[in-house]
Amino acid sequence: MTNSDRIAIIERFVKQNQEGYDSGHDWLHIERVRRIAIYINSIEKLADPFIVEVTALLHDMADSKFAGKYQEERYSLVVDLLGRCELSEQTGKILNVIRNISFSKKIKEGDLLNPLLFVVQDADRLDAIGAIGIARAFAYGGFRNNPIYIPGENNINNPSTIGHFHEKLLKLKDMMKTNTGSTIAIRRHQVLLDFLDEFNRELDGG
Ligand code: ADP
Ligand code: NI
Repeated sequence: MTNSDRIAIIERFVKQNQEGYDSGHDWLHIERVRRIAIYINSIEKLADPFIVEVTALLHDMADSKFAGKYQEERYSLVVDLLGRCELSEQTGKILNVIRNISFSKKIKEGDLLNPLLFVVQDADRLDAIGAIGIARAFAYGGFRNNPIYIPGENNINNPSTIGHFHEKLLKLKDMMKTNTGSTIAIRRHQVLLDFLDEFNRELDGG
């Protein structure tokens, strides 16, 4: 089996998996993360480029927002898939990324210094900021029917999408693990700040 056979099998599997997700976590998100992860790794040279690609493709396979209580079943599906692709030797490292990639997951497990995790997590986080990040946040907020903002509150710890910027998105720039990720994050973070500035100006009637 060649690597392009493996990618074709994995792509098909992931496309099917992402079908029930919101438009911020669809196949196009996976493709963007793949491209950014490959780019970061081409500069940082932290991991095998093929394994970076496979891991980026699989990174949202067990997202708790969608898999709910079936996360363990999703991990098993990934193990089976990698076995079918004759990638069993790489399964540990790849699964470690899928288990630890989430921002919101409180209890991290296993090897948190896995270079593959640094690359794919930075790529996933970059897709949550900048213009695309703003679009994704409102797509997800709409999907959940969350309020856009809550008037008169400081927007921290509230369930609105603007609240989510403060709770998570504005923190991502300083959480990058690779230099390349940090460099890209600077510009994208500024896009968030400019957006919030303008949003508040308009709210104030300006
Ligand atoms: P992680 O997988 O790192 O926990 P998430 O899956 O929570 O990250 O975030 C993925 C995308 O979903 C991001 O673009 C993020 O902004 C969006 N998102 C997650 N939770 C919310 C929320 N409560 N409101 C708006 N967007 C959200
Ligand atoms: Ni993702």
